[in-house]
Amino acid sequence: MRLTVIGTGYLGATHAAAMAELGHDVLGLDVDQSKIDRLNAGEVPFFEPGLPELLRKSLDSGRLRFTTSYDEAGAFGEVHFICVGTPQRKGEYAADMTYVNAAADSLVSVLRPGALVVGKSTVPLGTAARLAESIEQVGAELVWNPEFLREGYAVEDTLRPDRVVMGGHSGAALKQLAEVYAVILDAGTPLVCTDFATAELVKVAANSFLATKISFINAMAEVCEVTGADVTQLATAIGHDARIGHRFLNAGLGFGGGCLPKDIRAFMARAGELGVDQALSFLKEIDEINLRRRARMVDLARELCDGTLAGVRVAVLGAAFKPNSDDIRDSPALDVAVSVQRAGAAVRVYDPQAMDNARRDYPTLAYVPSAVDAAQDADVVLHLTEWAEFRAMRPSLLGAVVAERRIVDGRNALDSEAWRAEGWTYRALGRP
Ligand code: UDX
Repeated sequence: MRLTVIGTGYLGATHAAAMAELGHDVLGLDVDQSKIDRLNAGEVPFFEPGLPELLRKSLDSGRLRFTTSYDEAGAFGEVHFICVGTPQRKGEYAADMTYVNAAADSLVSVLRPGALVVGKSTVPLGTAARLAESIEQVGAELVWNPEFLREGYAVEDTLRPDRVVMGGHSGAALKQLAEVYAVILDAGTPLVCTDFATAELVKVAANSFLATKISFINAMAEVCEVTGADVTQLATAIGHDARIGHRFLNAGLGFGGGCLPKDIRAFMARAGELGVDQALSFLKEIDEINLRRRARMVDLARELCDGTLAGVRVAVLGAAFKPNSDDIRDSPALDVAVSVQRAGAAVRVYDPQAMDNARRDYPTLAYVPSAVDAAQDADVVLHLTEWAEFRAMRPSLLGAVVAERRIVDGRNALDSEAWRAEGWTYRALGRP
């Protein structure tokens, strides 16, 4: 089939390359000419493992190319995927719908009758029904098809998702989208067909649940900190109950990124508009527990440095919001780095992939090319993003260069015994 993908960020670029891999002819579209030039040249404008290879393969096959022209997209596509971002509005909880609305308006002006539009962006409840009106007026149809990909695993999650969710009111449109995903569905992937509202809700409900799970264990970490209990042992023990499970139960600095924080806030804002704010008031607490962990991390660093961070040299390991990503949106690591600097510390940051993004958005922090450089003469080391590189690091490597062997493990991901055995004072969130 001939598909277009509107928006070429983490979601859209991956979706476009993955759809070409499934055998479709794909035209990716973005309003950013420089992004399009880079993608056409086979260059992924962000770090996503496996995507450069998939992009190259799809371009070489002749089944994928990129454009900035909506006229070209309208003439080309039988199915159009909307994959643009819905960031948090400045100073508000609600989602900024500028990009979705602009993409839908531009598409409507070029759509051919009989075309199918597929919404993948995470949107406030009611968006699909609103967009469907104008799309149906030009003889096209809409299906809402939320995306659940995780950055760092975007290729795998797109080609082999846990489930496919499609919301709509036209059997023919749902059938057409099922044909697009035939290879995925034939492999046995569960398919859930719903109405628009349920499909929109599936996405924000899933992200709210994941955020709740993380904040639950982080709330337990707060209790552990005043009782001397160990949150990692607690998580292991409760996770053995199959109803609870071990995944997304890692206590630490909490969640960040371009999805979970802004999605739960946008969900609360929309619930308020719909008159069901009480139903989601617990999400406010989830958000607050999450943000308190960042403050606790700074306090732990201060405690370890004899009560003050003024004039202290701090090594920060990690800038990305999580490992295997260069995304620094709402990064807990950078939030802590900035707070520590504001408290008077001299901060040196190292991250395996996110340095350019961090330097651009946080120019007042100092960036160095390796963990050892960050740790040189440091009074305390803060482990804030659990890259494999940091987890595999021998304590003696940094031990040789630091001024004081003091480390705070913000992700509960290092081997505490190994670090202590090398003479480090090791502290972590939620553990004695
Ligand atoms: C998330 C959802 O997982 C995905 O399904 C959705 O489509 C988009 O949002 P992503 O933002 O890529 O994906 O990251 P994810 O792997 O979910 O991690 C989110 C944050 O939670 C990260 O900051 C991570 O460090 C943190 N986290 C995750 C924890 O603090 N503890 C955990 O146990 C798991």
